[in-house]
Amino acid sequence: MNLVARNVPVARAIAPNEFRHAMRHLVGGVSVITAGRGGDISGMTVTSASSLAVDPPTLIVAINRDASSLPMLRRYGAFGVNILSGEQVDVAERFAGKGGLKGAERFAGSVWIAGPSGVPLLRDALVAIGCEVEEIIERHSHAIVIGHVVHLASTEGPAALAYWRGKYLAVEQDRDASRLAEVSLPTSRALWD
Ligand SMILES: Cc1cc2nc3c(=O)[nH]c(=O)nc-3n(C[C@H](O)[C@H](O)[C@H](O)COP(=O)(O)O)c2cc1C
Repeated sequence: MNLVARNVPVARAIAPNEFRHAMRHLVGGVSVITAGRGGDISGMTVTSASSLAVDPPTLIVAINRDASSLPMLRRYGAFGVNILSGEQVDVAERFAGKGGLKGAERFAGSVWIAGPSGVPLLRDALVAIGCEVEEIIERHSHAIVIGHVVHLASTEGPAALAYWRGKYLAVEQDRDASRLAEVSLPTSRALWD
């Protein structure tokens, strides 16, 4: 009798919708990826931007292979990651294509400055990061883009923009951090202080 084999749970196929629904419970920080220069610009809202390594400073973002920004990232070899503040839901919605906005139209209504290689960076982002494309790895429906950080500008605003269960949330440092501190265990505080 093979006890080990008997204890291995039978793998079942996870349906894409089931996975999508499960991932709604993961809180995502909202950023806008920007690409291009001059009038040839585009951008998109993402929750997949994340730090890869601090030395060298690198980040990753997962971009749908059909997204209009991806060919620009390849063409110009550069992109921006604009970490949105709690007051920038309108920017997030424009760059998610709300109202059918495309390309340069999405940039209206906010102040943009030219970063490295001319890539547009949002002046009032919590942090605006300029990256050079280090590598693009295509996997399934998405491209994993690795960016080498070459520029950082920070405004350190009081609230960040998050996305959770299909809704935007403002995470406010003073209010939410002090509320969390009340329920934190002393050991977990020590780990992060
Ligand atoms: C909160 C939020 C997070 C998103 N995160 C991603 C992401 O990480 N990767 C991605 O490919 N699309 C993501 N999207 C979808 C793109 O923003 C959207 O499809 C956009 O219109 C793509 O740009 P395009 O229309 O110019 O191709 C997200 C949308 C929202 C609202």
